[in-house]
Amino acid sequence: MAVLVTGGAGYIGSHMVLALLDAGETVVVLDNLSTGFRSAVLAPATFIQGDFGDETLVRTIIEQHGITAIAHFAAKIVVPESIADPLGYYLNNTAKARNLIASAVAGGIKHFIFSSTAAVYGETGATAVGEDTPLAPVSPYGRSKLMVEWILADTAKAHDFRFVALRYFNVAGADPAGRSGQSTRDATHLIKVAVQAALGRRPGLSIFGTDYDTPDGTCLRDYIQVSDLADAHMDALRYLRDGGDNLTCNCGYGRGYSVRAVVDVVKAVSGVDFPVTVMGRRPGDPAAIVADNTRVKAALGWTPRHDDIAAIVTQALDWERRLHNREL
Ligand code: UFG
Repeated sequence: MAVLVTGGAGYIGSHMVLALLDAGETVVVLDNLSTGFRSAVLAPATFIQGDFGDETLVRTIIEQHGITAIAHFAAKIVVPESIADPLGYYLNNTAKARNLIASAVAGGIKHFIFSSTAAVYGETGATAVGEDTPLAPVSPYGRSKLMVEWILADTAKAHDFRFVALRYFNVAGADPAGRSGQSTRDATHLIKVAVQAALGRRPGLSIFGTDYDTPDGTCLRDYIQVSDLADAHMDALRYLRDGGDNLTCNCGYGRGYSVRAVVDVVKAVSGVDFPVTVMGRRPGDPAAIVADNTRVKAALGWTPRHDDIAAIVTQALDWERRLHNREL
């Protein structure tokens, strides 16, 4: 009985591998290392370099390793990149996910956990977005993920197969024990970019848009700590194994921080007043996106343990410092 983690060499996937190993599970990672790192997959997890869309490969892995559940993290995740390269996103995030799901069904896998995204909602205007909010993604990235939610729902109707789709809000921070963190090259995510600016790895930070309809004019996001997010997946795995039905849940803390507020926290925690430039809006950015997390708490029993923006920034800074010093 083993769990297959696609994208397990990446940022969020590597934290899931840690959570699984900590729980005594047998883990197999499938990752093509396009953005992940071999060194992020810690022993005793088995690492296989390859493409999750390769049905022959995935069928072989399922059979050879006795896989009984799949947690699918491998994806392209940068909203502006998805606008420039929609076909790349629909191939990688949608078409290949369809192949992975087909491999799962053919291999008799009954439990599937999918990394979905708050980007499926688009511009809601709501202060806290519930799962039943009408879905209107504003980027190819959001649409590429939403289509997979639909594929999963249809597959679960036709086959002996159940899934949990977790819609992530803005994931940040690092394993509190320092075993993993965000090592992504050319990262674009706010907290990562800001800690790099604080450590002098970038000349400064640009704020994309200060004219949004929000309290300080910058976008509001719900920043969730990465180990808390991995724990939600562990809860989802338990839920499916206990016979839980198909489920789609938001994963966020239910509280928004503005871009300016995050920049202030990074400056305060690092003690560095790095330069900040105001730029125009970035395409594909909703003004505010904050989770209503009632369902993930009630249905999965998820209990966040790291809901503290200063601690999240401290973890990101510590990890970045170690990357910078080539300790990793
Ligand atoms: N931002 C800046 N400057 C930067 C980087 C980001 O001002 O250098 C702003 C963005 O414009 C946005 C906010 O910070 O307003 C957050 O941007 P990120 O790039 O960190 O994250 P996104 O909100 O675009 O997207 C992330 C994930 C998606 C997920 C989404 C859900 O990448 O997978 O959060 O809210 F769907």
